[in-house]
Amino acid sequence: MAVHVSGSRTDELMAKRDQYVARGVSLAPIIADHGHGARLVDVDGKEYIDFAGGIGVLNLGHTPDAVVAAIKQQAESMLHSCFPVAAYEPYLEVSRLLCEHAPGSFAKKAVLINSGAEAVENAVKISRYHTGRDGVITFDRGFHGRTLLTMTLTSKLVYKKGMGPFAPEVYRAPAPYPYRGITAKDALASLDFMFKATVDPESVACVILEPVQGEGGFTVMPKEFIQGLKERCEQHGIIYIDDEVQSGMGRTGTLWAIEHSDVVPDLMTVGKSLAAGMPLAGVVGRAEILDSVHPGGLGSTYGGNPVACAAAVESIKAIANDEFLAHARVFGERIMGRLEEMAGRHQVIGEVRGIGPMAAIELVTDRETREPASAVAAATVSGALERGLLLLKTGIYDNVLRILVPIIATDEELDTGLDRLEESLAAAV
Ligand SMILES: Cc1ncc(COP(=O)(O)O)c(C=O)c1O
Repeated sequence: MAVHVSGSRTDELMAKRDQYVARGVSLAPIIADHGHGARLVDVDGKEYIDFAGGIGVLNLGHTPDAVVAAIKQQAESMLHSCFPVAAYEPYLEVSRLLCEHAPGSFAKKAVLINSGAEAVENAVKISRYHTGRDGVITFDRGFHGRTLLTMTLTSKLVYKKGMGPFAPEVYRAPAPYPYRGITAKDALASLDFMFKATVDPESVACVILEPVQGEGGFTVMPKEFIQGLKERCEQHGIIYIDDEVQSGMGRTGTLWAIEHSDVVPDLMTVGKSLAAGMPLAGVVGRAEILDSVHPGGLGSTYGGNPVACAAAVESIKAIANDEFLAHARVFGERIMGRLEEMAGRHQVIGEVRGIGPMAAIELVTDRETREPASAVAAATVSGALERGLLLLKTGIYDNVLRILVPIIATDEELDTGLDRLEESLAAAV
């Protein structure tokens, strides 16, 4: 049984979980009962400030009132019809909102599905159909999901070990990681070399990149890398897929993280905070690319479920407005400021990085050698739990602490959470 905190009801349910739930599902340390805003309460009544946000799903926090009201209303009128069988308005409205708010002034279209992985699968399928090419370029430390194709695109071994053979025609290129010596220039040079030595760029359908790598350690892709990649795509007729599943929906202080680089992608994958906790994801982008697929070539039974779409309409309205995004930027500065102060006090923090409220600290045993301090990160997460803070690690070495706190958290909640983080870090070193 995994280590956990709290009381007897938790013990009881953990035993049930251990008996009935496959152990391949990561072992959560708490059993949640209910949540609101930035707070989550477990089955024994212990309250946590939630810096995990359901892994980037809760930019609007737990149970946002307008979203819950829309879910209730939609649940009472229709739970499901299957969009290709009987279409309905919430799907149309989410598609309209996504097309309106995705980058680019050209005509756009969207397809809605259930999960981020499915969005990535569809973006790749559409790119292959449109270009008539097979190749897909993915990047070191990228995370794109856990289905066969998306697991192939994903970097970290824990997500794919023992599960091959993997999907063919996937090529992995280095991604910038300035803190560990890989610059945008290096990464672009490697890609150019790859186009000479490994794969003919004229056989590549698409590239897929997260503008800020989520599971890969909150590594920010430098603007010049994103721009250089887009230039190469244009040169070779390759579709640029921007994976915004984790970095989108206001997480970086703009609606989409790619906006920081002034690049307009051809296709974008969205999910997580899109529907504030309901399962919904989508692909949005150039109409001529989306429309190249024949009728019946896209879709799924539950894709764009009406209840999830009703939630998404409210979620997009709440996030895609100047006031919310301006707040997100101020909120991000507050987090970054506090993390920088912590770095001044704790040698174990090698780097503070991120954009806006998508912030993280990379822990190292020594600031010179930059040896990953994975054990300190693990102990900090456990200590935070004891102190009432839900916190997540990330990165290939699991030595990065990432902050995915709801952007609607109060200043007091944010500060208390950051205090708990710092106390836990100091105790873990
Ligand atoms: C960038 C990115 N893409 C895709 C996915 C897969 O999304 P899902 O877990 O909804 O399938 C994730 C999930 O963490 C992600 O962070």
